[in-house]
Amino acid sequence: MDKPRSIYLDHNATTPLHPEVKKAMTEAMEVFGNPSSFHEAGRQARELVENSRRVVADFIGATHEEIMFTGSGSEANNAVFNALLSQPAARREIITTSIEHPCVLRAAAHLAELGVPVHYLDVDETGKVYLDQLESLLSDATALISVMTANNEIGTIQDVGRIARMCHERGALFHTDAVQAIGKIPVNVNEIGADYLSFSAHKLYGPKGIGALYVRQGTPFQPLIRGGHQEHGRRGGTENTIGIVGFSKAVEMRKAEMAEEATRLAMFKRALKEAIARIIPGATFNGHPTDSLPGTLNVSFAQARGEAVQLALDLAGIAVSTGSACSSGSLDPSHVLVAIGLPAAQALGSIRISLGRTTTPDDIERTAQALARIVTRTHLGASAGSGDCCCGGQCG
Ligand SMILES: Cc1ncc(COP(=O)(O)O)c(C=O)c1O
Repeated sequence: MDKPRSIYLDHNATTPLHPEVKKAMTEAMEVFGNPSSFHEAGRQARELVENSRRVVADFIGATHEEIMFTGSGSEANNAVFNALLSQPAARREIITTSIEHPCVLRAAAHLAELGVPVHYLDVDETGKVYLDQLESLLSDATALISVMTANNEIGTIQDVGRIARMCHERGALFHTDAVQAIGKIPVNVNEIGADYLSFSAHKLYGPKGIGALYVRQGTPFQPLIRGGHQEHGRRGGTENTIGIVGFSKAVEMRKAEMAEEATRLAMFKRALKEAIARIIPGATFNGHPTDSLPGTLNVSFAQARGEAVQLALDLAGIAVSTGSACSSGSLDPSHVLVAIGLPAAQALGSIRISLGRTTTPDDIERTAQALARIVTRTHLGASAGSGDCCCGGQCG
């Protein structure tokens, strides 16, 4: 019997290269010059980099000078926190949230170790930050507020425009980690009023190892990576020309495909949610009911461990994740699910299903059927919360 087509439903971890991106990158491989060289080969590479910068900038309403390319979304986020060190000591407090990606949480924790006061906003049961708590924490000492546009695990979209206005009223700067939002929903730096915004190519069908940071003109900044004059002196290092070309082609394709895809994925997500609710007693859904990324579905099962479900789905040829990709393999409950108030056992019984551009109705049906088989018949890891590894250590 033919093996059924494998189904990839982990698009929040990373996305496959768009075929047009692969083509553009393959062509760019012919251009080998260093963009900083003044000869013909160098000029060719410079042209590729600067044309790509314009495309990427335009996608979020920025000017090309306001975009610096980085090696990842994580680097872009770290660069923002590092920039805080250039602020006067009297204005150095940070406010962020308890549900940020680990790269933001660890960058903030590092500054806390250096003596910078850091406050963490709580979120409600849908993952939205409490704006009244933000209001009470904002002061003349607040330098930076960092709130993600959309959460990678539960998909909740924050009211970042409103948050930015609140920050600016107190003279503070606003950063948003838009790594999961860009390419899935419209994001415009001017509509938000962002001072810094981070994003990453591999979440939008571009290559891995290339990200970008938007820095509004005139906003304080200091390089995280010192070296040459590249990226307007904001990041040393010879540019990743091929990655940058791939990033801009991915953005071009998003411009063409994103709106239709969002409608389709929202429909698929609704269908999958309804099927799970019908077939699996006790399944509960995490995240905001409406302000949510179109293709992200986070579900908790009362009778099974997330790792065991993930493993069983993998054996059935279906890729999903538990928690965020960076923390999968860990047996600790996801910090995001804990922050929205799930008890540890329920958080450990959760999986994230993230749909993407090639997801089909058949994928949705097969996934619902596989989940029904796996969760309802086998009672995998019914000892949820015991702390024991339910899948023979394979999840470590
Ligand atoms: C919300 C969020 N921020 C930042 C990152 C890190 O991006 P990168 O993988 O490009 O370092 C991720 C990746 O999972 C993410 O989901």
